[in-house]
Amino acid sequence: MNNIQISASILSADLSNLAAVTEGLEHSGVDMLHFDVMDGHFVPNLTFGMPVLAAIDHCTNLFLDVHLMITNPLQYVEQFAKAGADLITFHLESDSDPEETIRTIHAAGAQAGIVLKPGTSWETAIPFLPMVEVVLVMTVEPGFGGQSFLWKMIDKVEALHQYAEAHGLSYRIEVDGGINAETAPHVLRAGAELLVIGSYLFRQADPKSAMDAIRENARKLQQA
Ligand code: DX5
Ligand code: ZN
Repeated sequence: MNNIQISASILSADLSNLAAVTEGLEHSGVDMLHFDVMDGHFVPNLTFGMPVLAAIDHCTNLFLDVHLMITNPLQYVEQFAKAGADLITFHLESDSDPEETIRTIHAAGAQAGIVLKPGTSWETAIPFLPMVEVVLVMTVEPGFGGQSFLWKMIDKVEALHQYAEAHGLSYRIEVDGGINAETAPHVLRAGAELLVIGSYLFRQADPKSAMDAIRENARKLQQA
């Protein structure tokens, strides 16, 4: 079933030393680096943008997974692709036209994904599902790290997984918010493949063992 990949959200990392952070993440065996862009308008928080992404791109070979929590993603996707984004996800609740935004991301050479806030129904994504590589299901309200997982979102992951199977679509389901050793098995069982892990990862004394344990659990689930 799932080809599990871990995308480490650097929102909770030591931002004073991103080169060391990315090196540590590579060592702990994560597959991607999750980069949360917030504009203080689409969400009430502000984070970082293209220059910081470009700086990270220069010091790592990790796949860069860029999550845009901004009001007008279409205006910026080309710049994020140029700054090194390998995957760009944007919210369906933003002001940009989804089809045009997906086309622009692809034309810029990156993979494209759509994101659903907890209050947005999975059916809203249907028209765009054949066009994207990833569907990101927010399992907390976007804006801040360290929040508690919203258990109701499991149903949304399941519905999107079943839809992909029923229609022969190849998008992968990513989950973001409150993912840890306890919640990971549930989202994996529901059909998620990409796990964004932020505060849980950076709380670990030994991040590599923690990530290995999550992978080991996933393997057991696959065999069960
Ligand atoms: C929240 C961000 C997340 C956040 C996840 O808006 O999109 O990527 O960093 O952090 P945790 O894993 O702490 O919930
Ligand atoms: Zn995110």
